[in-house]
Amino acid sequence: MDWDTYADNALKSFAEATTAGELAEAHTAWLGRRSELKVGLRNVRDRETGMALNAVRERLEEAFAAREAELERAVLAQLDEQLDVTLPGLPLRRGRLHPLTQIRREVEDIFLGLGYEIVDSREVETVWHNFDALNIAPDHPARTMMDTFYVASARAGTGGSGLVLRTHTSPVQARTMLTRKPPIYVVCPGRVYRTDELDATHTPVFHQVEGLVVDKGITMAHLKGTLDHFARAMFGPEAATRLRPSYFPFTEPSAELDLWFPQARGGARWIEWGGCGMVNPRVLRSCGVDPDLYSGFAFGMGIERTLMFRHGVTDMRDMVEGDVRFTRAFGMEV
Ligand code: PHE
Repeated sequence: MDWDTYADNALKSFAEATTAGELAEAHTAWLGRRSELKVGLRNVRDRETGMALNAVRERLEEAFAAREAELERAVLAQLDEQLDVTLPGLPLRRGRLHPLTQIRREVEDIFLGLGYEIVDSREVETVWHNFDALNIAPDHPARTMMDTFYVASARAGTGGSGLVLRTHTSPVQARTMLTRKPPIYVVCPGRVYRTDELDATHTPVFHQVEGLVVDKGITMAHLKGTLDHFARAMFGPEAATRLRPSYFPFTEPSAELDLWFPQARGGARWIEWGGCGMVNPRVLRSCGVDPDLYSGFAFGMGIERTLMFRHGVTDMRDMVEGDVRFTRAFGMEV
């Protein structure tokens, strides 16, 4: 065997290998367990041949390692060319708050700015807080007007549990007056429930925001001024409010609250926004507030409705289906 020729051929095939795979094949052929060199080494009988063959093996292994490093460097160099680190990165999709959350926070900020407190309350409410405390007697038409989800009792056969999913945020009025002493300045945004089918204009779960003020000398003028400020903060400096006489059992007098919205889709117009009034003295009394000393106002409006006409959303379902494309259409970032 001419080991010099063997070594030359091996070196040549290492040099000719252009990929790690080809180089590995060359290694198997010239230096692998069954290569002539390895077989020769295994069969060696004299010291001199052994040393000569080992020298060849070492030379070839070194050449192989050098070529391997060279090919690796070439791959990296190519990668560097493809990875232009100066290119602008792909934008990461950032999350956004749901528009209903955004609008709720806006409302909270406006009232925090007026010195109000935000109160949170329960969604499973007692019949007493949702109706009785608000002067809505058991036979009062308002009980059936609001299509109520009654919560069944856990104990079989005992009938109703006296619990409902709150049909409006007004029970917060009762809870607040029962736990705090006037002066009271609070707003409570939250979920409410009515037995409506989900369609373009109804949803069984929606949000309201309730406002309640109880203090000495509170008049309807304070209510009107507060609502005007709220309207302008939410809908721009040209927005205004109008009160139309109405009826709610828990306020007296009561009014429907209309909003003048110049930027309304389809042109400036009056839009029904919510309900309001002076807290009924009967409600004050049943919640432990002396109506001879204190008076108060309350208002409540739907947050979905507010979002709908402020942003020209025409279908309720867009707000509850959770499609991120809808959320993304509302510019505000988290
Ligand atoms: N709770 C009433 C409703 O859901 C709105 C309202 C709130 C009216 C506060 C008057 C005062 O329709």
